[in-house]
Amino acid sequence: MSRRRIIAGNWKMNKTPSEAVALCAELKDLVKNDAVDVVYCVPAIDIVPVVEAVKGTNVIVGAENFYIEDKGAFTGEISAPMLKDAGVTYIIIGHSERRDIFGENDILINAKVKKAFASGLKPILCCGESLALRKAGTYAEWIRRQITWDLSGVTADQVKELVIAYEPIWAIGTGETATADQAQEVCKMIRDLIAELYDAATAEAVRIQYGGAMNAGNAAELLSKPDIDGGLIGGASLKADFGQIVNA
Ligand code: PGA
Repeated sequence: MSRRRIIAGNWKMNKTPSEAVALCAELKDLVKNDAVDVVYCVPAIDIVPVVEAVKGTNVIVGAENFYIEDKGAFTGEISAPMLKDAGVTYIIIGHSERRDIFGENDILINAKVKKAFASGLKPILCCGESLALRKAGTYAEWIRRQITWDLSGVTADQVKELVIAYEPIWAIGTGETATADQAQEVCKMIRDLIAELYDAATAEAVRIQYGGAMNAGNAAELLSKPDIDGGLIGGASLKADFGQIVNA
């Protein structure tokens, strides 16, 4: 079975609504590729104008965060039904910046994965180790634990629709990429874990991305690896380079 490649931009806290529309126009012709899922995960306030700006193109819109309740007294939060109604398809969950800066733990992340599926959103579930864990050699156990927690109670059919992004924290925004072999090693380990937790067909179907300083120069090598089905791209998603990654 061949998995469809998925190249997702994570815009993080960049681009005002008018800048977001301008970026969509700049990238429009560069990201054309019907063989790849091209996703822009954008700040909440940019969702409505970006959905409008990419109409009629191959671009799919994603969000960067949400809260697990449908509505109510949760000042400052945004719900899955709101995202869905606005035209969002993918949702990033468990990004290391949410875990480390905003204190999201695996219990909340697991609840978000289940809520996203229940609401018709497709999660891009992030995992990855710190530099200290990489140096200590315990990264494999760490990632196993993250994924096992985060997928607790999630069904095999749901996991077949899931995207998992392996993002070593030491490679995010640092310009230091994991080598293609390092990335492949962990992505394969994640797929093997899915086979262990579920079954071979689910492991074969789940799409696994690498993220962390992926750029126009290193994308082709990373994406040539058998267990790397795409990328989650921060810095390079905000410029023309993103088109080169989509077409790598
Ligand atoms: P980066 O970010 O590409 O800027 O390293 C990746 C991410 O955090 O998703």
